[in-house]
Amino acid sequence: MSKIDVLQASRIPPFLTEGLKARFEVHDRETASPEVLQRVRAIVGGGEAKIDQALMDRLPGLEMISICGVGYDGVDVQAAKARGVPVTHTPDVLNDDVADLGLALLLAVARNIPAADQFTRQGEWPKGPFPLARKLTGAKLGIVGMGRIGQAIAKRAAAFDMDIRYHTRSARSDVAYAHEPSLLALAQWADFLLLITPGGAATKNLINAEVLKALGSQSYLINVARGSVVDEPALIEALQKGVIAGAGLDVYADEPRVPEALRALPNVVLTPHMASGTAQTRQAMSDLALGNLQAHFDGRALLTPVPECRV
Ligand code: NAP
Ligand code: 8YV
Repeated sequence: MSKIDVLQASRIPPFLTEGLKARFEVHDRETASPEVLQRVRAIVGGGEAKIDQALMDRLPGLEMISICGVGYDGVDVQAAKARGVPVTHTPDVLNDDVADLGLALLLAVARNIPAADQFTRQGEWPKGPFPLARKLTGAKLGIVGMGRIGQAIAKRAAAFDMDIRYHTRSARSDVAYAHEPSLLALAQWADFLLLITPGGAATKNLINAEVLKALGSQSYLINVARGSVVDEPALIEALQKGVIAGAGLDVYADEPRVPEALRALPNVVLTPHMASGTAQTRQAMSDLALGNLQAHFDGRALLTPVPECRV
């Protein structure tokens, strides 16, 4: 039996590439011929994949889009829905890893771990002590976004006795933390402001110069959500001028490019969009992304359609 043609829209984990082999013929979006595009029945891609209407219009046989990631802000879901094409993603299986990296960035920034590592390696210690850092235990943590991952972050932060409040559009009745309807008020209150919302139009530049000013010169921003949530030039200026104390960033406006001005700053800890990047979690994400494709082509219900595509 001939294999099902699938278009790969961005990098995917090797586990998914391997899993697809048995039943699917995978084509790269950059090199697929017009003939192949006619035959494509599904798109697979990571959370950062840009899948717009123009791409879908080139695929007359498109039946579904399987995203290997929980965020799907690069996908034009309305265009897919208009074509009757469901979109799936991989929620929950990555909560722990993303929360772990959020806490790792909090600790790295507060305790200045990358600089301390350099200080020790480069033989600076005999010349004098490392500068004092910021205590994390008991500090005030403002979380922007209190969904699956936000709650996993709060659980970990609670173990550090952090005082936790959160900002979302709607207060949750199932969490014990205080809801702060004003983002500015949360920023003013927090020692650490951690972002874990979806990307896309609704959250674009949510963190702007005004929010950064409210956060203030003794406080830190952590972003494990999407680069688009932060006005990056405003953040760079705030970091350069000491408007905020520092930042821990896993995501950027134009990945994988990180502005030189940001890379040059001493008061930031930067990671390359790796919050879900453990072998165990990328395997679980790959299994779920493949499971959604298998379900569709077996005529079974999709395992994890995005909320807009749930029936
Ligand atoms: P989720 O369960 O859907 O939670 C999203 C949260 O964001 C909800 O609490 C939601 O509350 C809040 N939110 C949405 N729009 C908002 C707005 N305009 N202002 C304030 N809060 C808003 O999603 P999740 O599974 O926790 O994942 C969250 C996001 O994390 C993903 O979409 C992705 O962008 C990011 N992520 C990043 C990585 C990484 O590698 N760095 C890995 C995984 C996920 P309301 O709807 O009430 O506002
Ligand atoms: C992945 C992510 O790094 O799930 C998401 O939304 O941003 C990350 O888990 C990404 O999807 C890998 O392509």
